[in-house]
Amino acid sequence: MTVLVAYASAFGSTREIAQHVASRMAVARGEVECRSEAVVVGSAIHNQAWLPPALPFFNGHARELAIRPVWAFSVGMADALPRPFRKRGAALQQERLARVLVKEVPLRGHEIFSGVYKAGQMPAPLRMLFRLVGGRFGDFRDWAADDGWTDQITDQLTRPASSPSTGIITG
Ligand SMILES: Cc1cc2nc3c(=O)[nH]c(=O)nc-3n(C[C@H](O)[C@H](O)[C@H](O)COP(=O)(O)O)c2cc1C
Repeated sequence: MTVLVAYASAFGSTREIAQHVASRMAVARGEVECRSEAVVVGSAIHNQAWLPPALPFFNGHARELAIRPVWAFSVGMADALPRPFRKRGAALQQERLARVLVKEVPLRGHEIFSGVYKAGQMPAPLRMLFRLVGGRFGDFRDWAADDGWTDQITDQLTRPASSPSTGIITG
């Protein structure tokens, strides 16, 4: 299986998720047979948007991406928000991100993951207010969720090496 995992990360948590996804797929590679080339694009979210290198990569390679299976993941701070806002925050975030991705590339899936959000990354005047309303800082990555998502992709891209191939033969 050939899978390009492309990512954009400012502080490293998205890079680590991308590496984790790629390593897990590489392990699966030994057990499965290639069906197609695929692309996974991931980016940290800053100010409701993908980091600058990710969007031009995605939109600029639309033609090449459109003929391959493509998945996206975005890494944000939904789980740092006060509990009542987490799900809704992630959903709104996803809708907003989807609006700026070119429509010629149909995504097989777009997952919102939580990353690492440290107090030092928020402007000092807002930190206390954020905490007061129930916001938190920390490492909110859920590796089991990342693995589950990765395995779904692997399942879709592969078939057991021993199974017969299928196709249409005319003659
Ligand atoms: C300046 C800044 C802006 C951010 N804006 C958002 C945002 O709009 N939405 C969100 O969900 N997370 C936001 N975050 C949280 C980051 O996406 C989160 O910390 C992520 O794990 C960063 O990934 P990285 O470590 O790969 O850079 C922001 C973080 C920073 C530092």
